[in-house]
Order: sequence, then structure tokens, then C-alpha cells
Amino acid sequence: MSPIFLDEIKFRSQELNSEAMDWYNERMAEGEEIKRQTLEILEPRSRERGKLITLLQDIQAKFGYLPREAMLEFANFLDIPESEVYSVATFYNQFRLVPPGKHQIKVCLGTACQTKRGRIILEAWQRELDIKVGETTADREFSLERVACVGCCAMAPVTVVNDKAEGKVSPTRVKGILLSFELEKQKDKGEEEPS
Ligand code: FES
Repeated sequence: MSPIFLDEIKFRSQELNSEAMDWYNERMAEGEEIKRQTLEILEPRSRERGKLITLLQDIQAKFGYLPREAMLEFANFLDIPESEVYSVATFYNQFRLVPPGKHQIKVCLGTACQTKRGRIILEAWQRELDIKVGETTADREFSLERVACVGCCAMAPVTVVNDKAEGKVSPTRVKGILLSFELEKQKDKGEEEPS
């Protein structure tokens, strides 16, 4: 291998190392900030184990999900193993362990929606987004949740898309909703491009 080529590899590897270090430092700083904000929520509160779920709800309300650093801080605060916090967080559907997507899809599986084939609608969302309940797409555009009755039973089956209830949803409508987001995204991109 020629010395010039070796120099090039060395240069590229230094560049990559520096990018990796930047990325690592950013993640560390983010983690510290999450810990600080979690403590801000916890410190004024009592350390009773009975408050575990309420406190987790407060942490999730702050971050939109339960970051690992927050769960660690929480376990320290209550003086319990992190695995205990984790098992509560994974037991209840209401808790998310990954950040929510830009668009939040909530499929109602209350009684009326189940009767009107709500499960088929949930499957359609899972298929089209290629994720399961509680997950977020790799591009962080969509997250999928399952919820209980959202109070619009006459419109069953219902999916709440970014806080707006969509009624009488069918698998075709699922595709249509996703297509409208895609068109919106393309339009925004077109507007951003210089003329
Ligand atoms: S059961 Fe779905 S809106 Fe009531």
C-alpha cells in the first residue's frame, strides 16, 4: 500500500474518531441533563414505593418517554434495583421506553372499537409502519400506541392521529393517512429547496 494511501486512511480515521467523540460527548451531556431534570421532579416528592407509578407518569410527562438515565436516577431515589423500575415500566402499556415519533398514532381498542374490527386496524398500522405497538419508526416520524376508549364510540373503529380522532378507519384509510403525511413532507421539502 502506498504511503499516500496510508496517510489518507490515517486522516479519515482521525476524522471519524473526532466525529465519534463529538457524538459521545453530546450523548453524555444529554444524559446529564436528563438526570438533572429527573431530580428536579423527584426531589420535592416523597420516597414512598407506593408512589412509583405516579412518579413514572410525571417523568414520562416531562420527556415524552422514560429515558434510561431517568429510570436509573429514579431507582437511586427510591433505593430500589433498576430492574424493579424497568419491570413496572414494561408491565403497563401507558409507559414508553423509546422517544415518541413526530406523529403519534393511537389505535383505540376499547370495546366498541374492538367490536368494529379495531384489531385489524391495529394490524394494518403495524404492517404499514413496520413497527409494533410501543415502537417508533427508525426515521422517528411515527410511533404507535394502543389506547382504551377515547370517547368517540359512535365513530368506531377510531385511530387518534396527532390528537385528532379519525373515525370509521379501514386498512385503506390507514394507507391514505400515511400518504397524506408523505405528500405533506414532499411539499415542505419542495418549499425548502432554493428556486
Ligand atoms: S371504544 Fe373506541 S372510541 Fe370508544
